[in-house]
Amino acid sequence: MTTSPAPIMHLTTFDETVLARHSTRRFLPNPIPKGVLRHALTLATHAPSNSNIQPWRLYLLSGAAADRLKERLVAEASSGMEPIIPSLPDEFKHFRSELGKQVYGQGLGIAHDDTEARRAAVLRNFDFFGAPTAAVVCMNKTLSRVDALSVGMYLQTFLLSLTQAQIGSCVEVSVAGYPDVIRNCLNIPEELDIICGIAIGYEDESMGVNRLRSKRSSVEETTVILED
Ligand SMILES: Cc1cc2nc3c(=O)[nH]c(=O)nc-3n(C[C@H](O)[C@H](O)[C@H](O)COP(=O)(O)O)c2cc1C
Repeated sequence: MTTSPAPIMHLTTFDETVLARHSTRRFLPNPIPKGVLRHALTLATHAPSNSNIQPWRLYLLSGAAADRLKERLVAEASSGMEPIIPSLPDEFKHFRSELGKQVYGQGLGIAHDDTEARRAAVLRNFDFFGAPTAAVVCMNKTLSRVDALSVGMYLQTFLLSLTQAQIGSCVEVSVAGYPDVIRNCLNIPEELDIICGIAIGYEDESMGVNRLRSKRSSVEETTVILED
């Protein structure tokens, strides 16, 4: 009788990794091994980009550096200063309200008219939902939307690699709503645009909000397939 060798690492198929990735909105404080982050960052650099310019620029913060940024962002958001986030055109607004109902209602159990609890929950965006690692994603201001595509490809590779290591993440446009706070805190040069943040860490599995899975439109709704 033969026995299989013990697996040397936990491997999942590509499909399993893609389907396992989701936005994590409550984290455990446990730090992430530096090697895992470095590996995910290295894989992400293999993303394709226009003329291979590799336009992604990432600031990765943990420990006191992450705490400093969170404190400043939470202070700004608590002061009543609204974040500057591009508004959604009317035809897309229903997606946001559906997601809001799912995250704040179903996930966090906040009643629709409990504005105070909802405000407190929204504020958690700015402490990166308690994640021990925070990232800020930037791109040179002179580049265009086709280059932002390349940054997106880099990010998805990064997130999938984290997912495979069972590390949760949430991309956050909300934090980029306070670009001056981030720029001053991290000394980000003026030539870089601040696109979004990312919360990174081990998921708090006891929280219902982390068990939500967002709906997807079908392939037919989003794809025109022409054959003849
Ligand atoms: C560019 C971008 C910005 C996002 N900004 C936020 C955010 O500010 N706050 C938040 O809670 N989720 C944010 N998300 C997460 C989305 O709501 C989430 O990806 C979407 O609802 C699909 O759900 P899933 O990631 O769980 O599959 C963002 C995602 C992307 C890609």
